[in-house]
Amino acid sequence: DQDPILVQGPMPIEAEEFADRLDDVKEEKSGNFVFYKGTIEDYPVIVAKTGKGMENTAAATTLAIEKYDPIAIINQGTSGGHDPELHVYDIVLGERVTNIGALKTGDLEEGEGIEPKEWKPMDLMASEGSAGEDPDAENIRYYEGDQDLLAAAQAVKDTHTEGKVVEGTIGSADVWNNEVDRINWFHNKYGTSVEEMESAAGAQMAKAYDVPYLGIRILSNNKTNDGEYDPNTAAANQEYVYEVVKQYILTE
Ligand code: 5AD
Repeated sequence: DQDPILVQGPMPIEAEEFADRLDDVKEEKSGNFVFYKGTIEDYPVIVAKTGKGMENTAAATTLAIEKYDPIAIINQGTSGGHDPELHVYDIVLGERVTNIGALKTGDLEEGEGIEPKEWKPMDLMASEGSAGEDPDAENIRYYEGDQDLLAAAQAVKDTHTEGKVVEGTIGSADVWNNEVDRINWFHNKYGTSVEEMESAAGAQMAKAYDVPYLGIRILSNNKTNDGEYDPNTAAANQEYVYEVVKQYILTE
């Protein structure tokens, strides 16, 4: 028996379109998660509707790895632009992903205020010691996208006609940033192309189990260039990721 490819989507509009494209689907539920087990061109593919955010994604990823032993994981869905060159319907392939909610504040006494621009990145994977005290933990932890998944995604990028497909940096946290100066701060300091709430959590788990992983995120909004939210981007991304999965199967 072949091991499956796992495709994750947080919201119903980000997972069900893809699940509908599977043949011979069987649905399995576990906690809040729904796994649609099916095939594409006779190859096993599982779509996971994970729910939104870092915790749901980490748990759903770990559970799927333990239960289904996937050969590769694609985490896909919508995102908000950090790069003014990117527009709604453009797609970012996560060459690297990072947790932009892992932060350590400056050292200020009572009455000295709150200074978010002084906050430092905090790398919880730097050591087993205290991240608050360890100077090595003042580091941005990037998880790299798998090269074979990136190659498959690049090979079919012309199938996405509503926007461009680029490699970039995905920043994740359970935060929706609408302050353009804060968005620019992440863009300059972390090199983020887009933000969302899942990719880095899945990447951390995939790395722990050594499973190839890639985040693929379409812009549904971009505050830096007045790109208005468009929920139909979720379906467009799933159409593209469907092509990526078929291409990846060819190389397996
Ligand atoms: N900021 C944060 N998350 C976003 N999402 C789409 N756009 C943004 C944004 N600008 C995604 C998240 C989450 C849901 C709220 O939509 O990944 O699943």
